[in-house]
Amino acid sequence: MNCTHPSAHSDAPGEERHGRILEALHDHGWSEQDNFLPPDLTLSLALECATLAAAGTLALARVSQGAARSLQPDVRGDRIHWLEAGQSDACDRYLAIMETLRVALNRRLFLGLEEYESHFAFYAPGDAYLRHRDQFRHDDRRTVSVVVYLNADWLPEHGGELRLHPEGLRMWDISPVGSRIAVFLSADMLHEVLPATRDRLSLTGWFRRRA
Ligand code: OGA
Ligand code: MN
Repeated sequence: MNCTHPSAHSDAPGEERHGRILEALHDHGWSEQDNFLPPDLTLSLALECATLAAAGTLALARVSQGAARSLQPDVRGDRIHWLEAGQSDACDRYLAIMETLRVALNRRLFLGLEEYESHFAFYAPGDAYLRHRDQFRHDDRRTVSVVVYLNADWLPEHGGELRLHPEGLRMWDISPVGSRIAVFLSADMLHEVLPATRDRLSLTGWFRRRA
């Protein structure tokens, strides 16, 4: 036990933690990790997301891209807000953490990731996102999908799992517990969001290659 390790005092998750995320992503096409964000940051981000939701500034999310881009609340029920640098201290801290993950992904898995895009997502009780893949048909830049959950005291009976359907393997459920991160390969992983019995808050994002 070494309480004075520098990573214990900064936002940046240690190399070892990145190592576990990257290894599982490489071996299975997905990975999950608890306590990815410091608790105070998760709390600030949850507050920011809830405030945006209460103010009515979240927009119903769309599916697909280009001419096919459309609102289909029966397919996808979440409301979102895209992050911009400088929007808040909490968002900037989060983006800095994701930047260290981007560098680690490139260093260890040679993915050539150039950019990160991310939005808050708010699912009201009963909202879901039916089975889909994250890569668009005519745009293969999205390479690694990342979801960080912002829900305090989430219990299994609240539902709202991210359900992964890895090809040739059994499905895998990830409960949206606060500070937990889920990572998967955008092109391959079929997945869905199951309805929950309470508000479900997250930050969803994609590391992209340049076109
Ligand atoms: C998405 C998505 C998963 C989740 O936004 O594309 O699949 O657990 N989100 O919120
Ligand atoms: Mn998705």
